[in-house]
Amino acid sequence: MLALSHRVQEAADLVTVALDELLPRADGPESRLTEAMRYAALGPGKRLRPFFALETGRIFDLEERAVLRAACALECVHAYSLIHDDLPAMDDDDMRRGRPTVHIAYDEATAILAGDSLQTAAFEILAHPDTHKDGSVRAEMVLRLAQASGARGMCGGQMIDLMGVRDDLGAVARMQRLKTGALIACAFELPLVIARASEAERHALLAFAQDLGLAYQIVDDLLDLEGTEADLGKKAGKDAAKGKANYVTLLGADAARERLALLTDQTKAHLDVFGTSAEFLRASVDFVLERRK
Ligand code: IPE
Ligand code: IPE
Ligand code: MG
Ligand code: MG
Ligand code: MG
Repeated sequence: MLALSHRVQEAADLVTVALDELLPRADGPESRLTEAMRYAALGPGKRLRPFFALETGRIFDLEERAVLRAACALECVHAYSLIHDDLPAMDDDDMRRGRPTVHIAYDEATAILAGDSLQTAAFEILAHPDTHKDGSVRAEMVLRLAQASGARGMCGGQMIDLMGVRDDLGAVARMQRLKTGALIACAFELPLVIARASEAERHALLAFAQDLGLAYQIVDDLLDLEGTEADLGKKAGKDAAKGKANYVTLLGADAARERLALLTDQTKAHLDVFGTSAEFLRASVDFVLERRK
C-alpha cells in the first residue's frame, strides 16, 4: 500500500528531524558521548513505534507536537535498548541498522553511557513543559514509559531472554510481552494519556497493540531464521546459534507462520470501533507481517 509506506516514511522523517533537535550536543570530551547517542538514535531505524504513536494521535485529533515529543522519547528508550541488547554481555552483535553497533563504532564504555543517556533523555523530553501544558499529563506519561521500560517491562523481558526459556510457549509469550510488547504498547499508551481516552478506547487500542507486538516479535524471530544480513542490517541466524527459545525455534517456521496468519484478522478487528480513522493502523498490520527487515 503506497499510501501507507508514504505515511510511515513521513513519520520517520518527522521523528528524525525532531530527535536531531532534541538530543544534546557538546564541545568538550563528553562530545564522544553525545555523538554516540546521535549515532544510535538518528540511524536508519524503521521508527515504527513513533509511527504507531503519531497514527494514534491522529485518531484522537491530538496536537502533533505533543505526540511527536512523546514519540521521540519512546524512540530514545528503544534506541537505548538496542545499544545495550547488542553489547558483548548481552547478544554480542556487531551490526545494527546496516552499520557497526555502537560498541564497535565507539567502545563498550561509551555504548553503556550512550544507552544510559538516551534513557534519561527520554524522560527529560517527556517531563519538559514543552511536551504538554498539564503537569499531570506529563507525569502520567513518565509513569507509563517507566513502567514499560523497567523490570516489569522491557528490561524484565531482556532478563528472561538472557536466563533462557525452556520448551514452554507460555514462558516465551510472557518474555515477548515484556521484551518487545511493552514498548510497542507504550506507543499507544502515551497518546491515549494525552487524549484522556475512554476505557473502551484504551482497551481496544491496547488489545490491538498486544496482538501487533506479538506478530512483530514472531516476524523478528522468522527473519532471524530466514532473512539475510543484507536485508536485515543485522546478523541473521543468531537465535538458533545461541540456542534461544522463541516462537520460531519452539514451533518451527511453518507453525509460526500459521499463527501469524491467524493473528492478522484478530489484530485488525480490535480497531473496528474506530472506523476509518484507524485505516492506516489497520493497514500497518500487513506492513508488519510483510516486512523484510
Ligand atoms: C528490533 O526493533 C528489536 C525488536 C524489538 C524486535 P525494530 O525492528 O523496531 O528495529 P529498528 O528500530 O527498525 O532498527
Ligand atoms: C531485542 O530483541 C529486544 C530489545 C532490544 C528490547 P532481539 O535481541 O531479538 O532484537 P534483535 O534481533 O537483536 O534486533
Ligand atoms: Mg536480545
Ligand atoms: Mg539482539
Ligand atoms: Mg531478534
